[in-house]
Amino acid sequence: MIYLDSAATSFQKPAAVRYAVCEALETMSSPGRGGYASAMLAADTVLDCRLALADLFCVRRPEQVAFTSSATHGLNIAIRALAGPGDRVVISGYEHNAVWRTLWGLGADIRVAASPLFDRAAAVEAFRRLLPGAKAAVCTQVSNVFGFILPVAEIAALCRAQGVPLIVDASQAAGSVGLDFEKLGCAFAAMPGHKGLLGPQGTGVLLCREENVPPLFFGGTGSVSQEAAMPDFLPDRLEPGTHNVPGIAGLLAGVRWLQRRTCAAVLDHERSLLAAFSDALAGESRIRQFRAADPADQAGVLSVQLDGVDCEQAAALLAERGVAVRAGLHCAPLAHQTAGTLAEGTVRFSFSPFNTRREVLQAADALRDILD
Ligand code: ALA
Repeated sequence: MIYLDSAATSFQKPAAVRYAVCEALETMSSPGRGGYASAMLAADTVLDCRLALADLFCVRRPEQVAFTSSATHGLNIAIRALAGPGDRVVISGYEHNAVWRTLWGLGADIRVAASPLFDRAAAVEAFRRLLPGAKAAVCTQVSNVFGFILPVAEIAALCRAQGVPLIVDASQAAGSVGLDFEKLGCAFAAMPGHKGLLGPQGTGVLLCREENVPPLFFGGTGSVSQEAAMPDFLPDRLEPGTHNVPGIAGLLAGVRWLQRRTCAAVLDHERSLLAAFSDALAGESRIRQFRAADPADQAGVLSVQLDGVDCEQAAALLAERGVAVRAGLHCAPLAHQTAGTLAEGTVRFSFSPFNTRREVLQAADALRDILD
């Protein structure tokens, strides 16, 4: 199978991730629940992963790195910490349902800073117009549908100037497009562990600026057990229940692999695959490609539409030819509304550090074959 659906989850992982998960199952119990060897090993692994993530994202203190079960989980914590019913929240026109539905469920006054696809200046301008009076803002760093790299540094600067706390959804960026949490000055950054960070499903990370984040879940943490209230310090405040130790051990192996390879090298590789795939189909008038004019504005995600072939059908036909992609709305109807593809959706090709040029050229052949 040629796996080009890494924007959903990275399927090919470094071998070290598999070994780390298995080793954790064999040797580790619950962190913070005892001083015996298996509990201490678990605690060390969880701390090492926190430290590695703090290093990767330039977070000052490892305690500001909270483990979650997914980016959605982290976004729910962050959004509920900053906004309530009726509060005005400004979001980009590229947000995932993890943001849109959470705000909608909360009864927030959602204002979409709409801007044309791949237009970074217009995205900044749209936020500038809507930020006054907002309680919070949310911006994805990279669109999970189109790979568009949003100008989060500029948007974060606007938010700081207006005193509006910003949540960055780094789901599609983490592991390729860098994020300097300290420099950005955002309130939160949420991401999954199972996409670009190359960890297992069921892992996620929330980077937090402030200590006093209202918890979403309540329960045992192994600390200040005599109190009814949750601990008032991070990360315990946000991490009730037993940690996903095998998941975190796998995530640590993924992050270490990335630290050696570097996110910049991964981004270069994924962009070169996107270019090879896109160029191979360039003369094909029956394919509409959503490609940025400036390659610097796009990470390794490319959406296409095919003349006369429904996107779901195209994905099914590609699967028959051994190519795995995702079609439809990708849980991000706002991004499709922005691009004018809400009615039909798109077929999305997303690339990983483990894909090769040969694979993407085969996928391009498969796409042409479907049209023929
Ligand atoms: N949000 C994930 C995707 O883009 C699941 O497919």
